[in-house]
Amino acid sequence: MAAPTMDAVVALCKRRGLIFPASEIYGGIANTYDYGHYGVLLKNNVIAQWWKAMIQERDDIVALDSAIIQHPRTWEASGHLAGFTDPLVDCKVCKQRFRADHIPELPCPRKPSVHPGEGPECDLTEAREFNLMFQTTIGPVQEAGATAYLRPETAQGIFLDFKQTLQYARKKPPFGIAQVGKSFRNEITPGNFIFRTLEFEQMEMEFFVPPDQAAQWYDYWRRARLDWYVSLGIDRERLRLRDHEPDELSHYSSATADVEYLYPIGWSELEGVANRGDFDLTQHAQFSGDKLEYFDPETRERYIPHVIEPAAGVGRTMLALLCDAYDEDEIGGEKRTVLRLHPAMAPVKVAVLPLLRKDGHPERAREIYEELRRHVSAEYDEGGHIGKRYRRQDEIGTPLAVTVDHQTLEDGTVTLRDRDTLAQDRVSADGLVQRVLELTR
Ligand code: GAP
Repeated sequence: MAAPTMDAVVALCKRRGLIFPASEIYGGIANTYDYGHYGVLLKNNVIAQWWKAMIQERDDIVALDSAIIQHPRTWEASGHLAGFTDPLVDCKVCKQRFRADHIPELPCPRKPSVHPGEGPECDLTEAREFNLMFQTTIGPVQEAGATAYLRPETAQGIFLDFKQTLQYARKKPPFGIAQVGKSFRNEITPGNFIFRTLEFEQMEMEFFVPPDQAAQWYDYWRRARLDWYVSLGIDRERLRLRDHEPDELSHYSSATADVEYLYPIGWSELEGVANRGDFDLTQHAQFSGDKLEYFDPETRERYIPHVIEPAAGVGRTMLALLCDAYDEDEIGGEKRTVLRLHPAMAPVKVAVLPLLRKDGHPERAREIYEELRRHVSAEYDEGGHIGKRYRRQDEIGTPLAVTVDHQTLEDGTVTLRDRDTLAQDRVSADGLVQRVLELTR
């Protein structure tokens, strides 16, 4: 089918409890979402695949989980305090705030047919630079000197621990440090569901390399990261690499490429791969007075490694997976919504359904379910008409459904239904675990 609308994806996520607005009983809070049961399972799968690609399948990257609140000097050194800003304008009439550079694409809240500033009553202020970091206070008293910040990227924790990691990890450049965790940005731009949120999970890896290898590793990671999304089952045609123009580059970057996905809002950033050079280690060395360099005992050379950084977002990966997998078709004249997720990403791999709620079906189905759940994420469901139960599983992307019926009790076979082909194979309940494992890898 043609690409779904964002509204269709948002509605499915809410209906099936994957993702829904946070604080809804209080009217919600802009650009903030909660993840329900299936959303959590999908999120866990995304993160697990990332760790697999970064750690399990390589031996040149180590893991880290650094603090969200770091020493405030961190953000002076990183340049975030001075430079991590958006130009904002306020409307004195409607009291709304806009990003100055986005005004040509935004509707005026009072008169949506024109842009902010063009309505008869609009009264916009001059643009002012607004820092995106959330401030907080350490200790019980809100006094100068105790101001701290929620991290706007996980990367800085990695730079702060570079020396520590070098000492225990027995690695030498080229090697990487990877971490997954929440970051926070005071975004005022409309979020487009989970595309842009105030808090979001990042999956970032800083790859430290000898300076003369930076260009080659930058090229390597640009391509490796795009391939990773293809491995999650995302359509290659809806992915592309886009190199930043010189005027788009962040203050720390000499080259950046975005892995972009064709979301319902158009081609947009899924992940950024940046050549950060020696900017961060040099800055933290200068601000902390510590030496952040590598001494190569073989060549007797001392140098500050350069850094190649693939920085991905869990939310944006989930949104790409959901948009890519969303499909609608018709079964027996009835409309069906289905998430054609790669089995490895599906929140639930197999559903076990007794045909009837009597005649020994539930008991046998439960036994099969208990066996399957020891190996894969499985779900038991006996509520409602069988067709309705299949539809429920289709909507959360469950690739397989096992149905227990009269024949099961006679000859030990069950039906195994395929979400995509709708084929229902009659198979022996013995060996089901192996079969499900093979089909959902
Ligand atoms: N350390 C580099 C860095 O943070 P970034 O391009 O600002 O670079 C990396 O962020 C990734 O984090 C983005 O590609 C996106 O997937 C995710 N991300 C950034 N801001 C986000 C937001 N407000 N909401 C959701 N995801 C966000």
